[in-house]
Amino acid sequence: MADLSAGDTKLVQYLNEAYGLEKRLETALQAHIALTTRPPYKKRLKEHLSETKRHSREVKQRIKQLGGTAETVSAPGPEPIAEAAQAVVAGAQKAVALAQGPLHALRGTGEDEKQLKNAKTEYASEAEEIATYTAIEALAEALGDRDTQRLARSIRRDEERMSSFLEKEIPRLTKAVVKAEVPASERRSSRATASSKAKPTVAKRSPVTKAKAKTKAVGGNSRAVAKAKAAAKRRPARSAA
Ligand SMILES: [Fe+2]
Repeated sequence: MADLSAGDTKLVQYLNEAYGLEKRLETALQAHIALTTRPPYKKRLKEHLSETKRHSREVKQRIKQLGGTAETVSAPGPEPIAEAAQAVVAGAQKAVALAQGPLHALRGTGEDEKQLKNAKTEYASEAEEIATYTAIEALAEALGDRDTQRLARSIRRDEERMSSFLEKEIPRLTKAVVKAEVPASERRSSRATASSKAKPTVAKRSPVTKAKAKTKAVGGNSRAVAKAKAAAKRRPARSAA
């Protein structure tokens, strides 16, 4: 590795951390895609795999432009030692990623639960990536490196989009687990149906509900409601007279 300034060394170090995360996520996403059956989720995972591959390419390219080497770690010190350290850590990272695939395939009791657990893992990975790119963006800004700052910001936004997708997907996947593993009689909707059967068919309406219904009946006009109320008050007075 060429001699780098302290700032660029720090940038290369952080970018390499991001590079390691992207590489690990590539392997995990491939395993998750193979296990996913829900079409919209599977589609989004495939999209994010392409994004993830692009992120690693872009990060690797930026590391090169800064004069560094794209590895999962950038250790300081004499070149042979640094290279040996990089090789060890890169090997370890690769082993972790390779081991994660089958590990992710084994988790959970049923198909739906596996998908849910994978989504939770993906959500955690996105959080780690968002934090990593936020730090790179702030570091690049502090060093006046606008190219790295722009790159980190654009990747962070992709990760944030994936994170909010997962946030909405997790409850859907949980509902699928409930449907697959909990008897219908124990689920809320069937309980509600059972209890509603026990109650009288005509439910008592609260004064608020009645007022709302009246508003609806007179076209949602509150003045009309007031008029209707006044008329209702006058009517019994006339009949009493
Ligand atoms: Fe990414």
